[in-house]
Amino acid sequence: TQRTLVLVKPDGVRRGLVGEVLRRIEAKGYALVALDLRTADEALLAEHYAEHAGKPFVRPLIDFMRSGPVVAAVIEGHRVIEGWRSLAGATDPTSAAPGTIRGDLARDWGQKVIENIVHGSDGEDAAAREIALWFPGL
Ligand code: GTP
Ligand code: MG
Repeated sequence: TQRTLVLVKPDGVRRGLVGEVLRRIEAKGYALVALDLRTADEALLAEHYAEHAGKPFVRPLIDFMRSGPVVAAVIEGHRVIEGWRSLAGATDPTSAAPGTIRGDLARDWGQKVIENIVHGSDGEDAAAREIALWFPGL
């Protein structure tokens, strides 16, 4: 069975959407295997977003991700990596489909960084790397 890393980003926590995100995960049928509220530091986020190093949005992205607590979770289930990205919806909340977390609950505020409530690992290698980073020893 497969696992993936879920983050409720600082915008989601600030807006009181942690319960709503976890509700959707549980309603879909995925199992929670780890759950933690924490404020991520620069080193963790630089590592987490290593694939985006050098892109113009990575500095505002890391600053945004450090702006408040996030909820980190590991969830489990057959094909959960694809399933969780499907629940989250497209990166850009303006075009994300209604019915998805980003489509229903996020919008473009004209900020430097896209605030889109959640993160999900984008493949098996990323999931393994991100789970080890956020939950060493799991
Ligand atoms: P995550 O689940 O957060 O990784 O979303 P994703 O896989 O849909 O997006 P990606 O990994 O490409 O980018 C990570 C995050 O960087 C996004 O969720 C956005 O918050 C931000 N981001 C990505 N692309 C852009 C962009 O072109 N401009 C801006 N301003 N922010 C971006
Ligand atoms: Mg990504």
